[in-house]
Amino acid sequence: MDIKKVGVLGCGLMGSGIAQVAASAGCDVVVLEQDQKFLDKGFAGIDKSLARLVERGVDKGGITAEQKAAAQSHLKGTTNMQELADCDIVIEAIIESLEEKRKTYAQLDSIVKKDCIFASNTSSICITEMMTATKRPERFIGLHFFNPVPMMKLVEVVKTIATAPEVYEAAVAFGAKLGKVPVRTSDKPGFIVNRLLVPYLLDAIRAYEEGVGSIPDIDEAMKLGCGHPMGPFTLLDFVGLDTTYYITHVMYDEFKERRFASPPLLKRLVLAGWYGRKSGKGFYDYADPKNPVPGTFV
Ligand code: 3HC
Repeated sequence: MDIKKVGVLGCGLMGSGIAQVAASAGCDVVVLEQDQKFLDKGFAGIDKSLARLVERGVDKGGITAEQKAAAQSHLKGTTNMQELADCDIVIEAIIESLEEKRKTYAQLDSIVKKDCIFASNTSSICITEMMTATKRPERFIGLHFFNPVPMMKLVEVVKTIATAPEVYEAAVAFGAKLGKVPVRTSDKPGFIVNRLLVPYLLDAIRAYEEGVGSIPDIDEAMKLGCGHPMGPFTLLDFVGLDTTYYITHVMYDEFKERRFASPPLLKRLVLAGWYGRKSGKGFYDYADPKNPVPGTFV
């Protein structure tokens, strides 16, 4: 099963990143959005991301200007779902709402060809609950990418109890074709990475609430003491506090364990609309993005 034509649902940060890596791997990519303005914004982000890779240079893992142009020639945006009809795989990266996802998959199911694989990039929503909105549960998987998609080497390939083995193997091979390292996991909340990462991030907030250290000191400690590229608060702001808060709910709901529960401070930052980098403020203030200023909350 050779995957050549890829549909991507959603042209936000994750959807545009997935479209970029698929097009860079030589696949023909059609990105579906509700409105042209979201496509324009997503495609501008792709252009910027590819330009940064050209600037980086091939020696340091970047690309050539020709490779940038080739990737862009494989990309197409649309607001018409019918244009995804002949895709070999459709990867969904729309908002984290089970209802929205089920609605979209049910609609798509009657449009795309029968052997098309459906993949969700969800970070925490149950894949099994999505697949039942379609008549192709055996062709339904999770493909969980990491932010920023063009830079992060990992993709989690998620199988459900219904996934056909040949579909799963095709998805693993597709992950590798995109230049990612695929890891195999199953449909349990958080898969591998968020199952381990989220309790760590929540513990960092609890440590701060308990006065163990300041926000920049905890960040510096984990960067320099453990070799992490970003400290936990920088990473929380990077991922988005609203996103993390949402994941904690899904995980806590399933396991009922304190380690997955949101600390009070995370809830309050989300209630205040301080979602991190994307809203200009979170654990840090990004008024000057090159010089984020840590907040004091306790
Ligand atoms: N395309 C897209 N983004 C790029 C990029 C490119 N070509 N090159 C760099 N970036 C982005 C970052 O967003 C950041 O943005 P900004 O500068 O525009 O504000 C920029 O990297 C920083 O660039 P630098 O060149 O200074 O940094 P590096 O290239 O050395 O490393 C990094 C950047 C790869 C993001 C590194 O810091 C890192 O690995 N951080 C950890 C990221 C991480 O853990 N991601 C996973 C989050 S969990 C997740 O996604 C799961 C979800 O379900 C919650």
